[in-house]
Amino acid sequence: MNLDKLLEKCIDNGDLTRDDIVYLLKLDNESDVSRLLNAGDSVRKACCGDAVQIRALIEFSNVCARHCNYCGLRAPNTKIDRYRMSPDEIVDLAVYLNGKGLKTVVLQSGEDPHYTADMIADVVKRIKAQADTAVTLCVGERPYDDYKLWKEAGADRYLLRHEAANRELYKQLHPDSDYDNRMRCLRWLRELGYQVGAGCMVGCPGQTVEHLADDIEFFRDFQPDMAGIGPFIAHPDTPFHDTDCGTVEMTLKMVALARIVTRNALLPATTAIGSISELGREMALQAGADVVMPNYTPLKYRERYEIYPNKRCISEDPEQCHSCMRLRIISTGRTVSTDHGHSRKVPGVGGGR
Ligand code: 5AD
Ligand code: FES
Repeated sequence: MNLDKLLEKCIDNGDLTRDDIVYLLKLDNESDVSRLLNAGDSVRKACCGDAVQIRALIEFSNVCARHCNYCGLRAPNTKIDRYRMSPDEIVDLAVYLNGKGLKTVVLQSGEDPHYTADMIADVVKRIKAQADTAVTLCVGERPYDDYKLWKEAGADRYLLRHEAANRELYKQLHPDSDYDNRMRCLRWLRELGYQVGAGCMVGCPGQTVEHLADDIEFFRDFQPDMAGIGPFIAHPDTPFHDTDCGTVEMTLKMVALARIVTRNALLPATTAIGSISELGREMALQAGADVVMPNYTPLKYRERYEIYPNKRCISEDPEQCHSCMRLRIISTGRTVSTDHGHSRKVPGVGGGR
């Protein structure tokens, strides 16, 4: 295959075949890899501009009913100290953050049945009534009617990483979850008019380049509004405790390819890549990413939301992250967005490029 021709196609239209994707994922010569990352950056500049979106992440409960083999919050992990924020605490924090200029709040938790559909709808309604903010929910798989209720309550977006587009790999990672249901949830969310975020980990046990190509093909075909991509990081209290972690290089190649095939999706420079490399987030911003999601979970809870170990910013004061994040963005020659950072695709329709 001719790399020059292929990179031209990446920049011009991103219509990559599976063979193209596999070939690009397998690049290992340093200068070839950096040409791919630069192509991701060029597409970002052309399709998204220079502004970086800042999303305020609130991890409101670390209780989880699931058994995902990679995640430190998994139900069988008895070593973690579980917490739940009250609806009032969540609403007050979201409103406070909006007062500081943050225009998206991401409410994330494990799959915690304590929060009924009505409780979450009420939290969303109260935030929307008091703050000029987009609300993103990230609380896992739920029935259609719950998603519908929350959309009617005013939720704008929903993050549900697909985790693995390959059915077999999905099964190996999730002993108690169903691939078809996950995909069904993603379709429901789109039908209901949410801006939908998918995403996956890079370098999990058993994952091959072919599996990663499945993820890029999924992004190409589903055209999510957002796509979160981060390295897998082994957690000591999970079945994957003594496995290798994902690499910075493969994660960056995945970010660049996701940018190339989705054109204008919102792509976060994830906390996970910042956790395995000091400048990981900056490198992701220079390979196609255009979003950062600093953690605004109250310090007293934050270290308990340990999906993986040595998470970034685990003990930093939110005020410190607030200015640190801005400096990091500016250091890469970019600007900080002042708008709500809505999807550049047509909400509820999807597929628009
Ligand atoms: N390493 C990296 N990412 C992880 N996630 C969960 N556990 C890990 C881990 N050990 C990711 C999953 C999940 C998101 C919130 O964090 O993709 O969807
Ligand atoms: Fe938290 Fe830099 S973003 S310390």
